[in-house]
Amino acid sequence: MTKNEFNSHIKEVLISEKEIADAVAELGRKISDSYDGNPILLVSILKGSFIFLSDLCRAVTVPCEIGFMCAKSYYQDTVSSGVVNITMDLEQDISKYHVIIVEDIVDTGRTLNDVVNLLKSRNPLSLQVFTLLDKPSRRTVEFDPDIALFTIPDLFVIGYGLDCGEHFRNLPYIAEYN
Ligand code: IMP
Ligand code: MG
Repeated sequence: MTKNEFNSHIKEVLISEKEIADAVAELGRKISDSYDGNPILLVSILKGSFIFLSDLCRAVTVPCEIGFMCAKSYYQDTVSSGVVNITMDLEQDISKYHVIIVEDIVDTGRTLNDVVNLLKSRNPLSLQVFTLLDKPSRRTVEFDPDIALFTIPDLFVIGYGLDCGEHFRNLPYIAEYN
């Protein structure tokens, strides 16, 4: 891809670096304030949430660990739950942790619905889902994150970890894809 092509796909900045940084800092404070002495595990669903996770964990001022999962859900169109294929799993025994799933975007809700069901079956102390972005108008399964930093309309977005064909994850803001 040429530089011109790259730039021509960035239609409009929807959420600026500053807006993201402020929201992430506040979420870090919220996590820190909730600390009860039990370990916290921030679980990043790869790849889209790697930048959100790296900023968020540095906004947390209490002990916390991080873990990574790679998950893909497969559905047939008419069924309301799918088979979640975990291509990379957590190392931790999560029964000892307050688990916070850190996600880039909730779109149809299918991936997180399946990941949440899987992790619940491992009996964590608690389980919450914090997402950077939420596109509620796209939902095909009933699923609500505990916290969504930004709710957006039905647009395809790129940047701050989110890709189109593996490009644009490195943009420091969220933009609409052209
Ligand atoms: P789900 O449809 O809620 O299961 O979301 C699955 C995944 O699709 C998300 O974790 C993202 O990686 C990707 N995705 C959904 N909407 C967008 C978008 O607007 N831009 C980039 N990736 C997206
Ligand atoms: Mg994702």
